[in-house]
Amino acid sequence: MKHLEVVLDYVDDKVLSSYDAMVKRVENAHETLLNKSGKGNDFLGWVDLPKTIDTDLDRIEQVGNELKNTADILLVIGIGGSYLGAKAVTQGLDQYFDNSGMEIVFAGHHMSAAYLAELKTYLQDKRFAINVISKSGTTTEPAIAFRMFRVLLEERYGKAGAAKRIVATTDARKGALRKLADQEGYECFVIADDIGGRYSVFSPVGLLPVYCAGHDIRALVKGASDSYDAFHVKKETEDLYRYVSTRNLLYENGKHIEMLVNYEPKLHYVGEWWKQLFGESEGKEHKGIFVASGAFTTDLHSLGQYLQEGKRVMFESVIDIVEPLDDTTILIDRENVDGLNYLAGKSVDTINKKAMLATLLAHYEGGTSSILLRLKRLDAYHLGVLLYFYEVACALSGYVLGVNPFDQPGVEAYKKNMFALLEKPGFEAETKAIYKKLKK
Ligand code: PA5
Repeated sequence: MKHLEVVLDYVDDKVLSSYDAMVKRVENAHETLLNKSGKGNDFLGWVDLPKTIDTDLDRIEQVGNELKNTADILLVIGIGGSYLGAKAVTQGLDQYFDNSGMEIVFAGHHMSAAYLAELKTYLQDKRFAINVISKSGTTTEPAIAFRMFRVLLEERYGKAGAAKRIVATTDARKGALRKLADQEGYECFVIADDIGGRYSVFSPVGLLPVYCAGHDIRALVKGASDSYDAFHVKKETEDLYRYVSTRNLLYENGKHIEMLVNYEPKLHYVGEWWKQLFGESEGKEHKGIFVASGAFTTDLHSLGQYLQEGKRVMFESVIDIVEPLDDTTILIDRENVDGLNYLAGKSVDTINKKAMLATLLAHYEGGTSSILLRLKRLDAYHLGVLLYFYEVACALSGYVLGVNPFDQPGVEAYKKNMFALLEKPGFEAETKAIYKKLKK
């Protein structure tokens, strides 16, 4: 089979009746992306990243090896696009219970006081290093976490010793993190101006933590690079266009919610990464598909009822890992009190796949369409294929919808209120105004 294929057998035929016209729109969107004539065309550095990053891989590995020599734990500090790519890939490739690389711990992706306090205790007597990642260098959540753990390192090793254990991934010139990194002499990786956070997984933002976790970043990038060739050079776009066209047709037919479903819990954070990618790229101008994610069969025991019989506003896109990572067989039990002997000798993966097929059919017959994405296997190469597929799909989808898929103006509104409430210098007028509003 191909590395990734898209199957439309479980999509409402009526919706697919205008498929050809939609494919034309997707083709136009692809042209717009490649000739850089669309909205947000100053943020297209991610398109060529699987090709251009090659020259940085040696240095990423060299810095990663130095971190491995000085520490057992890598504390990755970042939020949104500055952590989700690394989290998605490491969780996708890690063993469930035993890993050979550094232990990767994330922080700065929320503001739980309990988490930070417990993490401080956890790291107290352990050898750890920090990779702080922030393109703007000013985001509050990672800045708070970084101050806390930088000080912990400085107390232990002194400023110079701490600096040897800190790598900053940030803008080339701007931001408080850049200023601090220059002042303290941290090892740095630059996030290019034309690469937005949610499209940065194939840059040092994603690749350094993934390498430190013990995974093959060259295979990951090769998967993305081969997809680049397939989509943009050889024009092998059938599966890509199938996904983009169908999700947009479903949207135009009133299906406003897409749930990305997996049958392998290692893909949980691929779902989280995908939600940020599509949610932040498409949800604007009061338009866009609302994105959710689910882990089956677990969520069939909670959301299954809604998907089968609830309001008909949803569709699913289901990731099927065709070749199992590992497998195990149901044993025979002579007494058979649990009545499971009809499954004896069958592999658990076979049963999981039957559950998937049963669900696809049941949901289809109940009026919920599913787009099936079949990924050959879950390894670094195929994860590279999948993530690049989604990046391009998201850009094309945004253009079909008519929005700029590369900005996120809406995420600033809450920050303005928060800074006003925290009385940040420079926000005096907003502070006055917000307290007046709250009194009402
Ligand atoms: O995709 C995005 O641009 C955002 O999710 C950012 O990655 C996130 O807000 C973190 O920003 P920064 O890297 O500037 O700290």
